[in-house]
Amino acid sequence: MAQWVDAAPVKDFLEGEYKALGINGLQAVVYYYEGNFFALEDVCTHDGGQLSGGRFTHGEAICPRHGARFCIRTGEVKAPPAYEPVTTLPVRVHEGMVQIEDPYG
Ligand code: FES
Repeated sequence: MAQWVDAAPVKDFLEGEYKALGINGLQAVVYYYEGNFFALEDVCTHDGGQLSGGRFTHGEAICPRHGARFCIRTGEVKAPPAYEPVTTLPVRVHEGMVQIEDPYG
């Protein structure tokens, strides 16, 4: 059975904003976009940089190191130099809290 862990209260997010969070040893980025939450592992597949710190526009996360772009919904690469998708994390809202499914839970 999935173990859901609290990320942050829903009220702490603004539309078009993201938060980088450390959860049970996992580094994640949670995006709030068009009224929905999405979560990616905070590791760029190009060279292991953190996606957090980069811009987020039109549903795409832009790695601040070399500019690779990833779809926040699917993790799919939208622009090089990365060629492998970023890991997506299941996310839900429960009792006013954004939660992420702990892949190690
Ligand atoms: S580490 Fe992300 S684009 Fe190079």
